[in-house]
Amino acid sequence: MKTTVSIIKADIGSVGGHAVTHQKLKDKCNEYLSNAKEEGLLTDFYITNCGDDIDMIMTHTNGTDNEEVHKLAFDTFMAGAEVAKGLKLYGAGQDLLSDTFSGNIKGMGPGSAEMEFKERGSDPVFAYCCDKTEPGAFNLPLFRMFADPFNTAGLVIDPSLHGGFDFEVYDVIENRKVVMSCPDEMYDLLALIGSTGRYVIKRIFRRSDNEIAAAVSTDKLNLMAGKYIGKDDPVAIVRSQSGFPAGGETSEPFAFPHLVSGWMRGSHNGPLMPVSQADARPVRFDGPPRVIGLGFQVSEAKLIGPVDMFADPAFDDARNTATKVANYMRRHGPFEPHRLPADEMEYTSLPGVLEKLEDRFEDM
Ligand code: F6R
Ligand code: MG
Ligand code: MG
Repeated sequence: MKTTVSIIKADIGSVGGHAVTHQKLKDKCNEYLSNAKEEGLLTDFYITNCGDDIDMIMTHTNGTDNEEVHKLAFDTFMAGAEVAKGLKLYGAGQDLLSDTFSGNIKGMGPGSAEMEFKERGSDPVFAYCCDKTEPGAFNLPLFRMFADPFNTAGLVIDPSLHGGFDFEVYDVIENRKVVMSCPDEMYDLLALIGSTGRYVIKRIFRRSDNEIAAAVSTDKLNLMAGKYIGKDDPVAIVRSQSGFPAGGETSEPFAFPHLVSGWMRGSHNGPLMPVSQADARPVRFDGPPRVIGLGFQVSEAKLIGPVDMFADPAFDDARNTATKVANYMRRHGPFEPHRLPADEMEYTSLPGVLEKLEDRFEDM
């Protein structure tokens, strides 16, 4: 019997503007997922949030892209959105692009990351969930976990990781994908995934046996809706230990709060701050962007845990650095590279300004 881990997430409304979701929404999700667990569709689940996004971490035995599981997630978010509307929460139902389910949650607004595997004797699985950023935010940390020997000692000194990993990369603009092997094709891989707005790591496999190692939600909300309706705050599932990066090798990349796009109005670069669940409240200039990390054991498809990875005071320095970087970036105000380049901004007044000035522009 194989176990499936599905994280399906959505922003269905929040308090204090786009800051934090409401407990009543999580209660509604809990009600729906509890029923599904009683009926046997789910084996287990854990509900958390990063800022205004609700993350439903679900385990079951139905495989990935299962229609019933996806419908459950969709119905749950629809019901939560009704609660949000009743409370007049901000952005109530904002990520739900359609009110009728059509077989798969992909393309309907919520983000999803899923993987199916045969459980080992003991199977540690990590959930990393972000707010106020985009799927490409995981490119750098995932590269570090699975391809950078200066992060992951096991790549060098553990024979079970030494063969390297395959990276499946999505081109989210042209809607195509490519698989690249590390370490052999490392430089080519980096040439792509350095463009975080376009090339996004979707899945990672261990080369020696093609075993799934990581999966990311890559749904680009803004591209799907054809207009801005919120950043596609991503989640990642990462397997760990005994042939995969150790737990601490999966969290280590986040000790460097790298710059990601998102933050205020989805239009600014800022540091990705690793925080505990309690501190997943991005309020300073609607940010800075956050990531939480939860460490579970998956046991007969049940979720044991979690450990709140970034509650560890050893990440205090990363948070202090992130605050310093936030101060520095903020002083640029509306200038690049704090503000994103024009074609990547989610909000822009530029076409209107150009139109207004059209008659006043002169050839030089
Ligand atoms: C970023 C985000 C917020 C909003 C901002 C303006 O992902 O959600 O920064 O973009 O609060 O929101 P509106 O346009 O709804 O007033
Ligand atoms: Mg929101
Ligand atoms: Mg969000």
